Amino acid sequence: MSGDSDWVFGYGSLIYKVDFPYLRREVASVSGWQRRFWQGSHDHRGTPEAPGRVVTLVPAAGAVCRGVAYLVEHAVFEHLDHREKNGYRRHAVAIEMAADGASVRGVLYVADEDNHAYLGPAGPEELAAHIAGATGPSGSNRDYLLRLAAALRELGEHDPHVAELEALLR
Ligand code: BEZ
Repeated sequence: MSGDSDWVFGYGSLIYKVDFPYLRREVASVSGWQRRFWQGSHDHRGTPEAPGRVVTLVPAAGAVCRGVAYLVEHAVFEHLDHREKNGYRRHAVAIEMAADGASVRGVLYVADEDNHAYLGPAGPEELAAHIAGATGPSGSNRDYLLRLAAALRELGEHDPHVAELEALLR
């Protein structure tokens, strides 16, 4: 991390919904984390009365989560903090670039089990049924899942959790 800019690692909608300016974009990964549909969405893919389910990262020894790292000017974090305000907090991490293995310091957004919108684990059928039935101001929860699955395929990433839910929803 440095001067006027910092790296932010995207593992969910930040991969495909890039509504912010960036200086660099790199396929990258973080170690020790796995993607899970365990966070409630009150403001994008659901409502406070009927939350959707969106991804967060959960600590997992030995896991590697692939996504996209963006080098952004500090002002961009105000936008991202607002966009991801429903329970997510910035967390400092080491980010490894896929192209050359270089490691940089950066941040990612995590919604842990202490936040008010956290829903936690459930079986795949229950998760898929929940996602199939939810919708919010940003669109259907199903569309969120399918767009994420497509974006991961474009990165050459196979995430078994996302792939299983995608198969159940199709
Ligand atoms: C992400 O795509 O990295 C992301 C997902 C949820 C909240 C914030 C960021």
